[in-house]
Amino acid sequence: MNPVSSPSFIQPAERIASFKPYFFASLTQKLNALKAQGMDIIRLDMGSPDLPPAKFIIEALAKAAYRPDVHGYAPMGGTLDYKKACAEYYLRRFGIELDPQKEVLALQGSKEGLFNLCQVLLNPGDVSLVPDPGYPVYSAGSIIAGAEVVYLPVLEENGYLPDLNSIPEDVARRAKILWLNYPNNPTGATAPFSFFEEAVAFARKYEIVIANDAPYVDVCFDNYDAPSILQVPGAKDVAVEFNSLSKTYNMAGWRLGMAVGNARVINFLHTYKSQMDSAHFEPIFIAGATALTGDQTWIEERNLVYKTRRDILVSGLRQAGFRVTPPPAAIYIWAHLPEWTRKPDGTFDSIEFCSQLLEETGVSTTPGIIYGQAGEGYLRISLGTPTDRVQEATRRVV
Ligand SMILES: Cc1ncc(COP(=O)(O)O)c(C=O)c1O
Repeated sequence: MNPVSSPSFIQPAERIASFKPYFFASLTQKLNALKAQGMDIIRLDMGSPDLPPAKFIIEALAKAAYRPDVHGYAPMGGTLDYKKACAEYYLRRFGIELDPQKEVLALQGSKEGLFNLCQVLLNPGDVSLVPDPGYPVYSAGSIIAGAEVVYLPVLEENGYLPDLNSIPEDVARRAKILWLNYPNNPTGATAPFSFFEEAVAFARKYEIVIANDAPYVDVCFDNYDAPSILQVPGAKDVAVEFNSLSKTYNMAGWRLGMAVGNARVINFLHTYKSQMDSAHFEPIFIAGATALTGDQTWIEERNLVYKTRRDILVSGLRQAGFRVTPPPAAIYIWAHLPEWTRKPDGTFDSIEFCSQLLEETGVSTTPGIIYGQAGEGYLRISLGTPTDRVQEATRRVV
């Protein structure tokens, strides 16, 4: 094969020049190399559900795939039936009425929508208010749009909620998006409804769009019931919520999500996306609608599986000296590194810790720092791995 030529005139555009590959892309390469050396790796790093969706959802996909009339381009922004199913889900789950034509948009996974929201709302110089630690797409999308990212610390001592009152007036006035994410990745924290009320009032006052990223609302434990921000009266005036079938229905690889809420924002996103992508294969919409409107009882059983894993890990981590609170929702444990790992200068190094843990035990976890400066000193551990492997990982770590 001819070597790939790389003449020096091929340079990245300035807006992507400083970006490194997404953490999990590089980690997977490293793990493959260790596996090739014969190491038994247990992946507690990525938030990818290990369990499949319920059988009736897969059957709906298979059956639809045999139909002769579903192989062309599906309508951009999703079929009306899929959007109606999203609206039906919101009504059943949260008591919220949505107009499927104007207030619902299908996404190729919510990550795509979060990234593209930045491109449709942010001009260079605008401020994007991003939680730290937080899901990396909020800042990456904002930076690529040329916006200024202002980080809002979400810390253990504040229940992992940002202090909106501490945002300086001039910053709030320049802000165009406030990112929220409850139940939260990476911390597993939840927000009381009163916080959503406060956020909506803040957004109204400063004319900011709230992007509430809510892919974990249906992964709850111990009778916790996560709210939607759209339940706050008048929230639709300022908020758009991102939801996803990835975690709720174990369908991460299907890349099916939704943006719902403010009709103006939905319209901007729809226009933008119509230039850059085309819709899913229609049987995916058909099976997605089946997931959203069909039997939901299996979700409770699935959540019990995550809860079992959570409890095994929490107790093992505590024995190993980590500080950890059992999360009431989402599929992550956010564990503070043991005191004995503190460096002489008083700091922690989560990257070094994770790498040593991986090399010594084969257990792969995610360093907290990749979610922001305020994540240093923590590890994120995913519950998306079979229970026997979670048990084995705990044995190796303790
Ligand atoms: C907070 C958060 N938002 C969005 C996503 C993206 O989900 P998807 O694109 O699969 O819908 C994830 C995935 O892990 C996440 O943790």
